[in-house]
Amino acid sequence: MIDTDTAGDDVTAMLFGLLWPDVALEAVTVCCGNVYLEQATRNALNTVEVAGRPDVPVYAGAARPLVRDLVTAHYVHGPDGMGGANFPEPTPSLAEGHAVDALIELSRRHAGELEIIAQAPLTNIALALLLDPELPSRVRRLWVMGGSNNRLGNITPAAEFNFYVDPEAAHLVLAAGFELTLVPWDLCIDYGILLRDELRPVLDMRTKLSEFYLQVNRSVWEFSTKAEGGSIDGISHPDSLMMAMAIEHNLILETRDCFVDVEYSSELTRGYSLVDLNAVLHKPSNATVVTRVDRDRFKAMLFELLSRS
Ligand code: RIB
Ligand code: CA
Repeated sequence: MIDTDTAGDDVTAMLFGLLWPDVALEAVTVCCGNVYLEQATRNALNTVEVAGRPDVPVYAGAARPLVRDLVTAHYVHGPDGMGGANFPEPTPSLAEGHAVDALIELSRRHAGELEIIAQAPLTNIALALLLDPELPSRVRRLWVMGGSNNRLGNITPAAEFNFYVDPEAAHLVLAAGFELTLVPWDLCIDYGILLRDELRPVLDMRTKLSEFYLQVNRSVWEFSTKAEGGSIDGISHPDSLMMAMAIEHNLILETRDCFVDVEYSSELTRGYSLVDLNAVLHKPSNATVVTRVDRDRFKAMLFELLSRS
């Protein structure tokens, strides 16, 4: 299952889950984050509809972080999170029930086999933990897009957005005992950005999916090109890079098992991910941090996905 705060890069990850061969996407749960919950659920419903997969249930989850007020990323993804596409009201409707209850029920139904792709602030995952502390024992692997491995964050110098929005949730989830793979922001910077020239084949594809992909990523492309401190004329793929790894593990070329925790008491470094690469704190490892990825294979998977008519 995918937990998402549906905006441009989230959508591409959902398309992998909805359309890649041999992937069984059981459900999509939605969390506030890039945009408000209501918009994020609408975007998720639009995405299952465009993918021709209205059979995949979409559940609404947390409308705000555990403790703090919500901070959104409209400035990155556009007012609707979908590049300003203003898609019509989706035909599929939300599944009955709260996302957190659905997540727990799925973990019981698929005990030992369920993998969770957590590509949003971790509020829904943390709430599920508080409701059912045994959750980690039933989840085969929790994939988390969040944090930064001793490199700059993206919403502050110290913090990546998902961990910044709900640092208390991130702290709880990392300490809960999941088999956890962490895909940090710096990895996306190094391996998950496609520049304008590389995107030429997508611009020329003119399939329904390639046009949808370009539309929902239009704002993030514009934002990256004008970003202070370093223009990147391309599209970043944090969530879809993680989804591609979860589908094809051989994309992962190097990892480091280490202790990871998240700062939540300091305002200055709120959301900072401490990644103890050299084990100087002598604390047990709680995360497998991905440090190197097969970028060419990721790009090939993305083009294969989008070229489908
Ligand atoms: O920092 C990048 C992450 O925050 C991505 O998941 C993006 O979609 C936003 O949720
Ligand atoms: Ca996301």
